[in-house]
Amino acid sequence: MKFGVIGHGFMGSLHVEAVKSLENMECVAVCDIDSMRLEALDAKIKRYREIDSLLADEEVETVIIATPNKCHKEQVIKAARAGKHIICEKPAAMSSSDLDDMLQAVKDNCIVFSSHLQRRLDIDFQTIKHAYECGAVGDVYLIKRMLYGYHGNMHDWHVHISEGGGMLLDWGVHLIDQFLYLVDSPLKSIYADVRNVINFEVDDYYKVILRFENMVTAEIELGTYMLSDKPDWFPCHWYLCGNKGSLYVDNFEPEGKIVRTNRLLTDITDAAGRYIGPTRSFGQPEPGLIVTEEISWVPSDANDYYRNFVRAVRGKEELLVKPFEIRRTLSVLEAIWESARTMKSVEFE
Ligand SMILES: NC(=O)c1ccc[n+]([C@@H]2O[C@H](COP(=O)([O-])OP(=O)(O)OC[C@H]3O[C@@H](n4cnc5c(N)ncnc54)[C@H](O)[C@@H]3O)[C@@H](O)[C@H]2O)c1
Repeated sequence: MKFGVIGHGFMGSLHVEAVKSLENMECVAVCDIDSMRLEALDAKIKRYREIDSLLADEEVETVIIATPNKCHKEQVIKAARAGKHIICEKPAAMSSSDLDDMLQAVKDNCIVFSSHLQRRLDIDFQTIKHAYECGAVGDVYLIKRMLYGYHGNMHDWHVHISEGGGMLLDWGVHLIDQFLYLVDSPLKSIYADVRNVINFEVDDYYKVILRFENMVTAEIELGTYMLSDKPDWFPCHWYLCGNKGSLYVDNFEPEGKIVRTNRLLTDITDAAGRYIGPTRSFGQPEPGLIVTEEISWVPSDANDYYRNFVRAVRGKEELLVKPFEIRRTLSVLEAIWESARTMKSVEFE
């Protein structure tokens, strides 16, 4: 498949490199309004300064749109009308009504459309998904995801609401998508606290609680300015909690364990043999009480995102990230904003 990449900034250049490295895929053209961004490209890749010229290039079968978020709607509609298949960076749109207009153009022009939600293929997430599905910690009641940063300020267009900035439209889209992909149950309610702690316009902290019909609660907390001086501080965590243990995963190079107790504390007695009650749950565990198991990490390759897309276009495989899933994630985002504004939980499905 021959690709054209639109927007050659941070993410666009990663797309060019990824496609170049994959079998039966080629990046034949790149477009960026900033000619400086085109300078470092291989000589054989065609360079365009405007999207219309790239879309008129018949060699390009699929476009990857990696421009700032506010550009996606117009560019997806144009690309669909030009008959190109489309991978659009996340968030595909800044609202569900914008996405509806885009999906209409996709339908009218019979092209394949997906959004680059490749974090479904992260090893930590795949491992959590496997543990959840196989009941590694029993019946799951809570799944927590935490991401803590320290620089605080965002940069460039990310600091403006009108450009689609803020951390909900950034990491938030991946995190919500992961939970909706993981928990196969209707999402009943959403509660959110969203703030701009040190950024003037856009959100840089949120806590989101999603309650699913199957009684699983998902909790997402992200802050770009949540600090610690502990040497063992980790910027991100997963916590999968069930009635047969907990599984934790820390860090971007994931490390973690399954943790269980070798017995419950109901039979704890003092030296005189008297029952001393459940409050001892919070003291130091006695030696041997906590037992751990190594995690078997699920191997995963983010480039499978592109392989899947090509096979889906060729009719050989189901698309990994489907339009209705992209739409559901945007609806959740909108409910998050509503909950934060009203300070109430929002009923969902
Ligand atoms: N999937 C992921 O993990 C991931 C990670 C980072 C960014 N992203 C997404 O990728 C997109 C781009 O983010 P980025 O961090 O690479 O931004 P960036 O600012 O680094 O790059 C954007 C590029 O688009 C160009 N551009 C702007 N308007 C254009 C237009 N009308 N036509 C052509 N080119 C234009 C800019 O000159 C720039 O080179 C965003 O939607 C972002 O959310 C996704």
